[in-house]
Amino acid sequence: MRILGLETSCDDTSAAVVEDGRLRSSIVSSQNELHAPYRGVVPELAARAHLDNLMPAVARALKDAGPGTLDAIAYTRGPGLMGPLLIGKVAAQTLARLLEIPAVGVNHLEGHVLAAELEHKLRWPALALVVSGGHTDLVLAAKPGRYRVLGRTRDDAAGEAYDKVARLFGLGYPGGPEIDKRAAKGNSAAVAFPRPAMPGTWDFSFSGLKTSVLYHLKGRVPKGRECYDLCASFQEAVAETLVDKTVAAARKFKVKDIVLGGGVAANSRLRALMSERGKAAGFAVRLPAHALCTDNAAMIAHAAWRRLSSGVRAPAGPCDPSLPLRSWA
Ligand code: KG4
Ligand code: ZN
Repeated sequence: MRILGLETSCDDTSAAVVEDGRLRSSIVSSQNELHAPYRGVVPELAARAHLDNLMPAVARALKDAGPGTLDAIAYTRGPGLMGPLLIGKVAAQTLARLLEIPAVGVNHLEGHVLAAELEHKLRWPALALVVSGGHTDLVLAAKPGRYRVLGRTRDDAAGEAYDKVARLFGLGYPGGPEIDKRAAKGNSAAVAFPRPAMPGTWDFSFSGLKTSVLYHLKGRVPKGRECYDLCASFQEAVAETLVDKTVAAARKFKVKDIVLGGGVAANSRLRALMSERGKAAGFAVRLPAHALCTDNAAMIAHAAWRRLSSGVRAPAGPCDPSLPLRSWA
């Protein structure tokens, strides 16, 4: 089954072709430069850029994939920004109508949970930590299509915390890669930032950590070595918080694999610490390549294939900016 996927939920315009769980082509056109002056995504600008970039991305993805007949077109139905979501949906439905094939609306979070499958054979049950600019979700997946969200952030998402703290450090947007780069040159034990535990729940909270960085700086913008040390210390606090809770949940729910997804899953320290502590606790840790961690249409096409190949038709529901992750199997 050959599926064209479209992803337009936030600030990356992406089109990809996936065939029976295998990636055939993937185009991602990032809008980072467009939003950088505002240090955050401007929904109206994002929607207009998707409009300009989506069809060229589709044309390239189809060309790169080589000859073959499409069986379905998948698009992100939510969660995400309403304008950008609608552009993906209208494009998918128009193409699907012309080609007389189904258009399948996919939950963006499900895409992140299953993205690792494009590179690894996952064993179920698996525990997915989805960490991005909009999400910090701990998802227990009994199998593809069977999900339970164990916990999520109570305030800032992990990526949002990275972006806000990067701003305090005087760094550019998006903040995650900027902090990650500088942290490599710093001492992670320089400042003991708090590790917010949220005991008794599987939830996360990052606003206290952000506030403690703010109090530590007292209005200064750190330079040189101090900046590197603060980046490393902040990064260590985020990574330990995420890893400790994920490994504890993996033990409690007796999963086989731990998978990471979302833009923050590209973080070098999070990847290293999750591998180290996850493996020490007896789990296989599956880390998708960076391009499959950040927003991409391949994961959307793949999630649609999982559903269609199980004989399940997608609910033809509307786009929903806060679409909950529901089981379909
Ligand atoms: O999944 P994604 O591309 O888009 C959303 O759905 O939000 O994630 C973007 C987020 C941004 O907050 C960005 O700062 C963060 O992922 N990010 C990182 C790294 N690369 C991207 N955070 C930490 N370390 C990184 N290397
Ligand atoms: Zn995402």
